[in-house]
Amino acid sequence: TNIDLPQLRDHLVTIALQAGEMITAAKPSTTSSGTKKNSADLVTETDQAVEAFISSELKRLYPSFAFMGEETYKPGQKLGDEPTFVVDPIDGTTNFVHRHPYVSVSLGFAVSKIPTVGVVYNPFTGKLYSGIRGQGSFLQEIHHGQGVQNNNDSHHLHQQHRLPLKDPEPLTGLDSCVVVIEFGSDRSGTNWKTKCDTWARLGRSKDEGGAMVHSARALGSAALNLCAVAEGTLDVYWEGGCWAWDVCAGWVILTEAGGKVVDANPADWEVPIPVDHRKYLAVRGATAGQRELVEEFWTNVEGTLEY
Ligand code: IPD
Repeated sequence: TNIDLPQLRDHLVTIALQAGEMITAAKPSTTSSGTKKNSADLVTETDQAVEAFISSELKRLYPSFAFMGEETYKPGQKLGDEPTFVVDPIDGTTNFVHRHPYVSVSLGFAVSKIPTVGVVYNPFTGKLYSGIRGQGSFLQEIHHGQGVQNNNDSHHLHQQHRLPLKDPEPLTGLDSCVVVIEFGSDRSGTNWKTKCDTWARLGRSKDEGGAMVHSARALGSAALNLCAVAEGTLDVYWEGGCWAWDVCAGWVILTEAGGKVVDANPADWEVPIPVDHRKYLAVRGATAGQRELVEEFWTNVEGTLEY
């Protein structure tokens, strides 16, 4: 298929800006939100309304493409090789419910399970990240009230910053990194223990067998975490349990900024993983040391996640 990817990206940007207006207009609360698997797995009416809006727009524009979205996913549904939109209407639902402004709309497009176009938009900060496979990734600052009308205005495109935002420095080891590691909503069994052990090893001193990272962060949106690693403002992101819609869009943005996504468990650096892999280690772009850093993580820090 010959798909016009820049046009598809422009459509995703328009939809993300409109979805952002729905999100900032909502008044969520911890008491009005519902839960899915357990009390830490939140969903709101806004998640559902925003996904319905996004899927109807995409079906109108691209009737022959498949759609996978967090709120309409049915257990057993598989991401196929056909062109597929992979959508999280609100990535960072817990932040949204608590009105913490680290929230995004994550619009991904995958072909053969390879993340191909990504748009991630935080409507509270106005940061809009986008990327097309093979064509680079960008950050655009959307100013309040300007977004929807002026999206196609070329003036806006001049305000794009290519990612990464700073000159990539070499990665010299985990002891000079800030690492993102999330709780996620899965809090039971061996996976939860692995996450806690990983957190402990990251922070502990080298004398005591740890990695002594600069610090760790748990910010609450997988998509924005990947964008921060793409910017180069965070170095590493490790998580298990997230889904294709959490990572598809951010993945394109990160890899186009020189970053790399590999298996969270010790694995082969050369072997690419599909977007529905469920456990990820993402590393920022660097002039040197990327592979060594991944191997340090796999050897000294990681336990095995079972997803
Ligand atoms: C979640 C967020 C969170 C991550 C979870 C995701 P949601 O997505 O990205 O940071 O730790 O694994 O499920 O539920 O807010 O769309």
